[in-house]
Amino acid sequence: MSKEIRSGRGGFGTDMGFVLAAAGSAVGLGNIWKFPYITGEYGGGAFVLVYLGCIALVGMPLLYAEMIIGRRGGKDVFDSMSTLTAQAGLPGRLATWGVGLLSVGSGFFILSFYSVVAGWAVHFVSIAVGVSRASPAGSQATFTALAGNGLLSAWWHTVFMALVVGVVAAGIHSGIERACKILMPALMAILLLLLLYVGATGGLGSAATFLFRPDFSKLSAGAVLEALGHAFFTLSLGMGAMMTYGSYLQSDRHVVRDQLAVAILDTVIALAAGLVIFAVVFSMNAEPGAGPGLVFITLPGLFARIPGGGLVSIAFFVLLVVAAWSSGISLLEVVVALGVDRFGWRRRDAAIVLGILIWALGLPSAYSSGFLDFMDDLTTRYMLPTGGLLIALSAGWLLERADREAGFRALPGGGAMLAAGWTFTIRFLTPILVLLVLLNGIGAF
Ligand code: PHE
Repeated sequence: MSKEIRSGRGGFGTDMGFVLAAAGSAVGLGNIWKFPYITGEYGGGAFVLVYLGCIALVGMPLLYAEMIIGRRGGKDVFDSMSTLTAQAGLPGRLATWGVGLLSVGSGFFILSFYSVVAGWAVHFVSIAVGVSRASPAGSQATFTALAGNGLLSAWWHTVFMALVVGVVAAGIHSGIERACKILMPALMAILLLLLLYVGATGGLGSAATFLFRPDFSKLSAGAVLEALGHAFFTLSLGMGAMMTYGSYLQSDRHVVRDQLAVAILDTVIALAAGLVIFAVVFSMNAEPGAGPGLVFITLPGLFARIPGGGLVSIAFFVLLVVAAWSSGISLLEVVVALGVDRFGWRRRDAAIVLGILIWALGLPSAYSSGFLDFMDDLTTRYMLPTGGLLIALSAGWLLERADREAGFRALPGGGAMLAAGWTFTIRFLTPILVLLVLLNGIGAF
C-alpha cells in the first residue's frame, strides 16, 4: 500500500491506474460526440490535420504542465498552485487564484451540462435495449421528444449524476481507479468491435478518405480556432482536472510518458470513433455535416436500417455513456478534492453535497437547450482557454526550474533537449496560440 493511501488522502495504486484514469477523463463526449460532428462540419481531412497539430503544440505541453504541477503540489488545485508559485509573489498569487477559481467554476459548469448530454446517451441505451421507446415518427422525433422534454432530460441527468457521485465518493483508488480500469478497456473493446463491424459491412474506405485526405480549400480561420478550442476540451485541459489527478501520483518518473500515452489514446479513440460514425454515414449516403445532431439524430436513424443495427446501437450508446462517465468523475473530482484538502470534509460528504449542487445547476440545461449551449460556449470558448493560458504562463515563467523540469530529469539521458523544447513551447508558443483562441472567442477577428 502506498504512503499516500495510508496517509488518508488516497492515491493511484499503479501507474497504469493513473494512465487509465487520466485517459478516462480525456476520452469522453468530446471524442465520440463532438469531434466527429465538428470534423463533419469543417469538411474532414484538413481539419483533422490542424487538430493534430493543436494536440501536439498546445495540448501535450499543457498536459505535462498540469500533471507536473499537481504531482509536485500534491493537493487540490488551489493548494498545488500556491505551493509552487509562492516564491513568485503577487503574480504567483494571481495565478493561484485565477487558476483555482476557473477550475472550480469550470468543474461546476461543465459537469452540469455534460451530465445532461450524457443523460441523453443513457436514454438512447435504454431505447436500444428496449426499456424506453423510440418515436414511431423517426429519429428526429425521438430526439426532439427527449431534448424538448425537460422532465425526461432531468431524469436521465439525475441517473448520470448518481453514477458519477457513486464512483467519486468511493475514493481515488477504490473508486476512480477501479472504475476506469474496467471502463477504459471496455470502451476500447466496444470501439474495436464497432470498427470490425464497419470494416465488414462497408463504408470504412470512404470514412478514411474523408478523415485523412486533407482538402485545404475547405479550411477556414474558424476551423483552425475551433480545432484549438477542441484540443482543450478533449484533453480535459485548462480546469485542473489533470492537475488534480496528477496530485495523486506518487513520483515524477513517468509523467512525460504518461502524458504521451493519454494524448495518444485520446487521439486514436477520437479518430476511431470518427471512422465508425462516418463509415455508417457514408455507407447509407447520409450527410457528414449534420452538426450536434449527428450522433443523436442521424446515427439512430441509420442504425434502424443497417443489418444488426439493434446490437450496433446498444454498443454505440453504451460506448458513449462509458466515455462520458469516466470524464464526469474527473470533473467532479476537481471540486471534491478542494472540499477534502482545503476544507477537510469527508470525501463521501463532499461528493454527495457537491454532486447535488452540480445536479441542481444542470436542471436549467435539462429544460432549455439555449441554456445548455450557453454553458457549453462559456466554458469551452472562454473559461478553459483562460485557465490554460494562466497554467501555461505559470508553468513556463513562475515555476522554479527544478519543479518545471522534474518529469524530464527522469528520462534516460536526463531529457535536457526535450525539456528545453517544452520550456520554449510553454513559454511562448502555447500562450500565443491560446491567446488567439480567446481573442477569436470575444469576436476580435
Ligand atoms: N475531455 C472530456 C471529453 O472529451 C471533457 C472534459 C473536459 C473532462 C474538461 C474533464 C475536464 O469529453
